[in-house]
Amino acid sequence: MKITVIGTGYVGLVSGTCLAEMGNEVLCLDLDAAKIDTLNQGGIPIHEPGLLEMVRRNVAAGRLSFTTSIEDSVAFGQLQFIAVGTPPDEDGSADLKYVLAAARNIGRHMTDYKVVIDKSTVPVGTADKVRAVILEELAARGVELPYSVVSNPEFLKEGAAVDDFLRPDRVVIGAEDERAIRLMRELYAPFIRNHDRVIVMDVRSAELTKYAANAMLATRISFMNELANLADKLGADIEQIRVGIGSDPRIGFHFLYPGCGYGGSCFPKDVQALIRTAEENSSPVRVLNAVEQANDEQKHLLLHKIRARYGDDLRGMHFALWGLAFKPNTDDMRAASSRVVIEGLWQMGATVTAYDPVAMTESRRIFGDDPRLRYATAPIAALAEADALVIVTEWKEFRVPNFEQIKAALRQPVIFDGRNLYTPSQVREHGLEYFAIGRR
Ligand code: UDX
Repeated sequence: MKITVIGTGYVGLVSGTCLAEMGNEVLCLDLDAAKIDTLNQGGIPIHEPGLLEMVRRNVAAGRLSFTTSIEDSVAFGQLQFIAVGTPPDEDGSADLKYVLAAARNIGRHMTDYKVVIDKSTVPVGTADKVRAVILEELAARGVELPYSVVSNPEFLKEGAAVDDFLRPDRVVIGAEDERAIRLMRELYAPFIRNHDRVIVMDVRSAELTKYAANAMLATRISFMNELANLADKLGADIEQIRVGIGSDPRIGFHFLYPGCGYGGSCFPKDVQALIRTAEENSSPVRVLNAVEQANDEQKHLLLHKIRARYGDDLRGMHFALWGLAFKPNTDDMRAASSRVVIEGLWQMGATVTAYDPVAMTESRRIFGDDPRLRYATAPIAALAEADALVIVTEWKEFRVPNFEQIKAALRQPVIFDGRNLYTPSQVREHGLEYFAIGRR
């Protein structure tokens, strides 16, 4: 099939590349010429395991190309994926200006049947708006052309996005006409071994499914985080509780890990957007307000623990920080807990040396060359002169450290672990003070 993907951000680039990998011809459009240059020169603007090789392979095979030309991109694909950003407005609702601009361009330039597919996470009702602006543009040109608008939310996890796209748990298709449904089924057939994984529903339900999935996952995390804090007070161990409840198949083990808060480009934004949608429709989802509040508070938890140990005045103190990314296998620091921790430590007068396997470039972009934040080239090197180690991201390379080496390198033998990476008794055997989340 011939496919256009509008937007070469995270979702667009992964989707376009994986669709090309299955043998489709894909043209990706971005108005950011610098991004398109990078891609045309064989680079990619994001960090995602396996993606660079796949982009190069498909470009070399002639199935994947990149452009800044709107005319070319509209002419190219019968399927037009909209995968542009939907940044939050001041009030937290998703800003649709890029989505609607993309739809308008399609209406302005199309000359034959198009399936316009919303891949970006967009509020319920967006497909109707997309349909309306295309119709407006066609009317302005005085032409009548057939088109379908489909909602096809993505469920990609950063760090595992290529795999998630190639081997999806499910493909949700919100569509209301047979022609579009047939084309979408055909498109996804090679990705699924079993057709039950394609779930066709009405457009609004598909739009809401995406928010419901992310909000449910965020809810599990905030629930576990608050329970961990309670366990802390009660002298119970959240790790035991996690195993104890996860073994109930109705609960399950996934996404039950307490920590120093969830971040990233999806959960915080989607939870907020769903809260706004619910309020606008006078049907509040009260739980989600609590989920969001609990998460904001949880991002400060390590700071509270540090304050409880050393007091408010940390002038002259220096902290080692392991992990900057909001989670492992990505360099993404959007809404990352590390940012709250770094800024909090600064506020109390302390300085920081950070180590992250891939996110240090991103951190420099965010914090500039602030002298209060230095970087180390290895985890152990970050500990030099530090009064304590603070862990915020559960990178694999932090999981089995040499505790003797840690103890020797630190000025004071103290670890604040925001991801519960270690067994408390084992850390303590090495003579280290250990503060984790809800562990005895
Ligand atoms: C998420 C959804 O998983 C994905 O389906 C959707 O399409 C986009 O949003 P992503 O943002 O890449 O993906 O991150 P995810 O792996 O879901 O983790 C989100 C955050 O939750 C991270 O900060 C992570 O550290 C935190 N988390 C996750 C926990 O604190 N505990 C857990 O048990 C799981």
